[in-house]
Amino acid sequence: MAKAKSNTLKLNFDTSWSYAPAPENKSAATIKKQYDLFINGDWVKPSGNKYFDTINPANEEKLSEVADANMADVDAAVKAARNAYEKIWKKMPAKERGKYIFRIARMIQEKARELAIIESLDGGKPIRESRDFDVPTAANHFFYYAGWADKLDYAFPNRLSEPLGVAGQIIPWNFPLLMAAWKIAPAIATGNTVVLKPAETTSLTALKLAEIIQESGLPEGVVNIVTGAGATGAAIVNHPDINKIAFTGSTEVGKIIQRAIAGTNKKATLELGGKAANIIFEDAPIDQAVEGVINGIFFNQGHVCCSGSWLYVQESVAKEVIRKLKDRIESLIVGDPLDKNTDIGAINSRQQLETIDKYLNIGKKEGAEMYQSSCSLPGKGFWCRPTLFTNVAQSNRIAQEEIFGPVLAILTFRTDDEVIEKANNSPYGLSAGVWTDKGSKIFNMTRRMRAGVVWANTFNKFDPSSPFGGYKESGFGREGGLHGLLPYLNLIN
Ligand code: NAI
Ligand code: MG
Repeated sequence: MAKAKSNTLKLNFDTSWSYAPAPENKSAATIKKQYDLFINGDWVKPSGNKYFDTINPANEEKLSEVADANMADVDAAVKAARNAYEKIWKKMPAKERGKYIFRIARMIQEKARELAIIESLDGGKPIRESRDFDVPTAANHFFYYAGWADKLDYAFPNRLSEPLGVAGQIIPWNFPLLMAAWKIAPAIATGNTVVLKPAETTSLTALKLAEIIQESGLPEGVVNIVTGAGATGAAIVNHPDINKIAFTGSTEVGKIIQRAIAGTNKKATLELGGKAANIIFEDAPIDQAVEGVINGIFFNQGHVCCSGSWLYVQESVAKEVIRKLKDRIESLIVGDPLDKNTDIGAINSRQQLETIDKYLNIGKKEGAEMYQSSCSLPGKGFWCRPTLFTNVAQSNRIAQEEIFGPVLAILTFRTDDEVIEKANNSPYGLSAGVWTDKGSKIFNMTRRMRAGVVWANTFNKFDPSSPFGGYKESGFGREGGLHGLLPYLNLIN
């Protein structure tokens, strides 16, 4: 009798059940064995005949090889972009330009499934993220800026605007397709032409976008996509016939770019690192806030410049919040990025995993208490368990520096003034979050926080119509929305 009873209890309270695997089908995506450079509407071999591998970070298997563009290739791409700018694109009626951009948006939607699969294979992010966020938001950016193409007179009333010319665009590995859309759509909508370089670990969706662009019939040379690592990026930055640099990536490279273009006429927008503070007040709906914090730092392996990697909890509710966070990370599913149940995929590269591990050690050495989920990790590939640090001091490096991994540093506070001062005490200022039941407190906080975006009772929400960009070492210039048009235009009267 007694035995039967304990069995029933076990059945009712055992939480160790798991979902059956639900993997997306790899064969729904076509990946070529080798990719050349997309220059002047055509696929061109790299002049140095060099290629490098791109791997799947979830199993370290090679997916394809990608051309390594040198200075001569970058020069050919810039020449193609200049030619297309002078001869076709700047002369084309804006409403015709818009039609091409609408077409690209629709084609991204048509190929959404394939793009999502390739994004998850090449970069390691869960298919749920690439399918439900990255790819649809990329299409939305093209739709949104297609709409602006022939309405610039309304964007800047009584002003005459003209495009800048050729834009050099360099993007990172955390949102490969979305960052390409984010950069290309406003540039070509405003009449500029483009040379874009994706990150070396995640070139494939940008190359798929090049296929879409080719199929869309966009005039040759309006968008050129060159692949390669930092040296290719530097060749773009230093090319004398580039009029504007748009960069998203590390603060370190952002500073190199600023120095490189000092004294030239090149315009620049830089979207750099971040250390976003998420602030939970005692009157917040706690379960909703906990879910928002989890979403803000873990669902993308923490590979988001605006990740909520820094949590301030009001002292009176800190115990409850920390307990709920610990319970919740225990239920997060870490594993195959192609599985539709996966919450946390693979870390993008070995190098990034080493950076994250370095910070885990720093955190422990600094005396913070580390708590990790007990989940098992796959044998191959680059993985990190969701991690919480408590007993963190404001001055600790894990509370000050960008970790870019699924690692949350938790601190407490007592008063509004105290938390504002602490949250603003950072070299970064890209984003922040506030969780409270009181509308007046939201407005009070958002006004005083030095961050480009402040979310209230939500986190990591994006829309093409809202501007995005940082304060301080998070960079300058705004992308998205009406504000995102201006960095690609000269207002001439
Ligand atoms: P990174 O800044 O080196 O790479 C970003 C892009 O810049 C890539 O396309 C890269 O090839 C290119 N690049 C590298 N050196 C260049 C140069 N001298 N001139 C022109 N282009 C150059 O970033 P990395 O090394 O991949 O990541 C390091 C750290 O940066 C991360 O741990 C994270 O903290 C931060 N990061 C921030 C991002 C953001 O969204 N703000 C995105 C990626 C990384
Ligand atoms: Mg890869």
